[in-house]
Amino acid sequence: MNVLIIGSGGREHALAWKLKKSPLLKQLHAIPGSAAISELAVCPAVAQADFEGIRKYAVENKIDLVVIGPEEPLAGGLSDRLTAAGLRVFGPSQKGAMLEASKQFAKEFMRRHQLPTADFQILYDADAAREKIRDNKKYPVVIKADGLAAGKGVRICHDEAQALEAVADFMEKRIFGFSGSKVLMEEFLTGKEISVMALVDGGSYLLLPVSRDHKRLRDNDAGPNTGGMGAIAPVELAAAAMETVKNEVLQRFVDGVKKDRIPFCGVIYAGLMLTPEGPRLLEFNVRFGDPETQALLPLVEEDLLELLQACVNGKLSGQKMETLKETCVTVVLSAKGYPENPEKGKEISGLDAAPADVLVFHAGTRKEAGKFLTGGGRILSVTARAATLEEARKKVYSAIEKITFEGMHYRRDIGL
Ligand code: AMP
Ligand code: GLY
Repeated sequence: MNVLIIGSGGREHALAWKLKKSPLLKQLHAIPGSAAISELAVCPAVAQADFEGIRKYAVENKIDLVVIGPEEPLAGGLSDRLTAAGLRVFGPSQKGAMLEASKQFAKEFMRRHQLPTADFQILYDADAAREKIRDNKKYPVVIKADGLAAGKGVRICHDEAQALEAVADFMEKRIFGFSGSKVLMEEFLTGKEISVMALVDGGSYLLLPVSRDHKRLRDNDAGPNTGGMGAIAPVELAAAAMETVKNEVLQRFVDGVKKDRIPFCGVIYAGLMLTPEGPRLLEFNVRFGDPETQALLPLVEEDLLELLQACVNGKLSGQKMETLKETCVTVVLSAKGYPENPEKGKEISGLDAAPADVLVFHAGTRKEAGKFLTGGGRILSVTARAATLEEARKKVYSAIEKITFEGMHYRRDIGL
């Protein structure tokens, strides 16, 4: 098969690495890809936002399967557009992508189909929001911008002043633009978070290894929220929690999209909190997580291409998910200034010094005169796999010691 990956980050590098192992693969392509991905795939000069260019390229190059990595093209309707052109696409419709792109849409879906989640109210304008906040007696409370905000549109507010400030920032100053035109006020939950991803073919789902992201910039969950600074997989769940995840989250999700007639072939990512009352759904993403994917794909023994093909053919039920009984740790190396204002253009050294069984996925690099330079916020995601979490941690951190670039930052406590 000829496969086209859309995206350029660490997640897409990991997808390319995994798909490349498939005996079903003829040629791999990536748009826009990256210097690192171009070692595995053909990367034509087509932009990720150029949907018409992507369609044309896919048709001309007889692409059998398009795999969409990031949320923006999904929310923009790329999947629908390619499907309409007769292409097979792994990545949900624009309507399905609303489950990530609009928190209101997602929460109303959860309520309608009885998925366990925090109580919430939707506030349509700043005055109404202020009134609700003044009536609110329970703190902390969570204020969320409705739309996409790169993981930054959520504020845990400890008092009325903070909640009012969030409303002013999101709805009046519009720090996330149109994403703040509505806000949600949500019950505050506590517990450990997990990322549950499953492949979905519209009618059924297949669970991937459960993982855990580390969202804050610094050790001990300090500092601002980021796209994710590291991940581990698998995360063992108690049997009762696993039952809830399967029966009340994933099965109800699949039944819900069917009932609502939302075309959904792709990954559903449930961001869950393990509260004292059981698992509660915080959010949906409609794609592979980044960096969770880098930590879970090395555990998957199955041919990923075969599984994705089963998804687009509506034949997922009956497929297996065999995984290695090992643990993966992924640590993100980020640039100085990330997430606000990352420095770019620093030379990266030591990439070749990592042992062969440590995977270095490139998230934000470019190549100039044969050298890799930093070119983003999250630069590399380094992954090691071992029999135990302790060994995997040792392995990943000893590989990282050999890698350097000016201003390099990473968390030392991934998996602790
Ligand atoms: P979201 O984008 O909705 O997943 O929120 C981002 C992060 O905010 C989550 O990973 C949680 O750490 C935190 N968060 C979101 N909703 C809640 C909630 N209801 N209670 C406590 N923390 C939350
Ligand atoms: N790591 C969180 C996400 O992919 O949204």
